[in-house]
Amino acid sequence: PKIVFIEASGKEHVVEAKAGESVMFAATGNMVPGILADCGGSCTCATCHAYLDEGWVDKAAPVGEDEAAMLEGALDVRPNSRLTCQVNVTDELDGAIFRIPVSQY
Ligand code: FES
Repeated sequence: PKIVFIEASGKEHVVEAKAGESVMFAATGNMVPGILADCGGSCTCATCHAYLDEGWVDKAAPVGEDEAAMLEGALDVRPNSRLTCQVNVTDELDGAIFRIPVSQY
């Protein structure tokens, strides 16, 4: 499935992701800037924060308990905020758009 990342500047990156990997991994593995993922995906840093485009929110698994707790430490959290290391790529998410925040901290 393709995942679309849009930087705060508007620059778009379309990456070919593998079902089962995390959206964070799809970003970092394709050198998408702005998804820092300092903790490497263990849900302890909140620097993989991105906004899942409204139209896709229902297609991703809901925010988990650990994710919600970590998100409290992220900047400018919105109802569609996700920690991308906690979102798995699925075929349903083909074409999903994640907007990267201006800053991760
Ligand atoms: Fe650290 Fe997602 S990579 S919380």
